[in-house]
Amino acid sequence: MELRAHGTIPRKKPVLVCVLDGWGENAIEDEHNAVHVAKTPTMDGLKARGPSRYRTVKAHGTAVGLPTDADMGNSEVGHNALGAGKVIAQGASLVDIALETKNAFSDAGWSYIKPAFANNTLHIIALLSDGGVHSRTDQIFGMMRGAVADGCKRLRVHPLTDGRDVADGTCHEYMEKLVAELDSYAAQGCDAKVASGGGRMAVTMDRYEADWAMVERGWRAHVLGDAPNKFTCPKEALKELKKDGTTDQYIAPFVIVDEAGKAVGTIEDDDAVVIGNFRADRVVEISKAFEYVDFNEFDRVRFPKTKFVGLMQYDGDLKLPANYLVPPPLIERTSGEWLAKNGLKTFACSETQKFGHVTFFWNGNRSGYFNEALETYVEIPSDNVPFNQAPLMKAREITAAGKEALLSGKYDVVRVNYANPDMVGHTGDMKATVAACEECDACVKELLDLVEELGGMFLVTADHGNADDMVQRDKKGNALTDKATGALLPLTSHTLAPVPVAIGGPALPESVKFRDDLPDAGLANVTATYINLMGFQAPAEMEPSLIA
Ligand code: 3PG
Ligand code: CO
Repeated sequence: MELRAHGTIPRKKPVLVCVLDGWGENAIEDEHNAVHVAKTPTMDGLKARGPSRYRTVKAHGTAVGLPTDADMGNSEVGHNALGAGKVIAQGASLVDIALETKNAFSDAGWSYIKPAFANNTLHIIALLSDGGVHSRTDQIFGMMRGAVADGCKRLRVHPLTDGRDVADGTCHEYMEKLVAELDSYAAQGCDAKVASGGGRMAVTMDRYEADWAMVERGWRAHVLGDAPNKFTCPKEALKELKKDGTTDQYIAPFVIVDEAGKAVGTIEDDDAVVIGNFRADRVVEISKAFEYVDFNEFDRVRFPKTKFVGLMQYDGDLKLPANYLVPPPLIERTSGEWLAKNGLKTFACSETQKFGHVTFFWNGNRSGYFNEALETYVEIPSDNVPFNQAPLMKAREITAAGKEALLSGKYDVVRVNYANPDMVGHTGDMKATVAACEECDACVKELLDLVEELGGMFLVTADHGNADDMVQRDKKGNALTDKATGALLPLTSHTLAPVPVAIGGPALPESVKFRDDLPDAGLANVTATYINLMGFQAPAEMEPSLIA
């Protein structure tokens, strides 16, 4: 794995790689596009230098290994592509294939849970939507049908409502469909019910250890049958818990009880438990709670000895969970490994909410180091608030850390991720998202100014769209409003927009230009590009560089 010198580009430290999370370049440039509305002189300036130094690349669909081009991009697949330089069939695609071929129902993971669900209860904990970012209902239903066909007599589902990868308010439709599906299993002799749940940003689906209390609330509801809200009907539960305007993402934990007030689906010894999400970041913590005997993050009160599986294995380094239904994508020989094998030093930084994106996802879903002596990873703790209340997030702190790393002269490449266009974009709050984009742009300027001063090079890009469209639209692109109130219907999800790639810096020779024969390039082409900026030819196994 030896990198060879680039013919034209010198090896000149430092090289900055900057990811603006959720910053798409959307064709619709109107008052609902926060990237467009925001005052962004830095990014505008980069664009104004023209196509030899600024272009867009695809960040969604098959270009990043998702099943179809109707799939919006997301941070997992985006950072996988940026880090690996390859288009890898992603979790969503692999689960589709495993269900289609029925391998999911014959492989080791299924054999592991089958005796448990034949005799006891099968529990499924999953994000309930068609977002396709962490999970999809058709896959969850496919698994449930497989289990019922395979003799499952007692099924309990613990749905987590979305409203983040899909529109707010859609939780009702998904719950309606889930309940109808579960009711239909009665004909096959399966007693199937919703047992507990809550909003994905309120229970269970915390990530990167930002807020273990979220996971604890989920554990109490799913496992112990303990939550402040008890209902006999899950559809009623959602109606009641949303009455005060709570969005789907933040629905409080609830437990479904029988007429006598007893929880219908606590998790007991010898039950089978399946996490129905394919994406790792937001289910690593709950997986640890189920899998680890020694566990101190919160008091589990009771630790049932379950047969626990993930839809995928979420962390290959930790082998977490040990058992899983579908083997995860194998993302090998990523840029991180190439750089480490060549003795090059990397610095990576983001705040908690995106920390694993620039490390774990970037490195092909590995939580460890390739060579710890060469890799420095800095996490700035995120606030635990709805991010429209603090839209600047930790952009300044990330900038300070990035500048310190650039100034230190220690690193061959300094990589930062700004979380706020994405995290604030997910709140659906236009004004706050504009503020997030402006802050981000100002921070990029600080970094670029320093690169200029130090005589280095830079590459600025993004992982997928989000802030570039903040409203739900009809097929013609017109903004949709709530029929009752006339208010705009916010778009909380990512978009299908391509993302910018800008290169420059004083050390980049004038003659270096983007090639014009890669109109369909995607995020995976960015990897070879920054390896070039570092003064090396990119490995032939990677997607071609954007540089001529
Ligand atoms: C989330 O987990 O917050 C969203 O589902 C996806 O956002 P991300 O892909 O930008 O992390
Ligand atoms: Co996002």
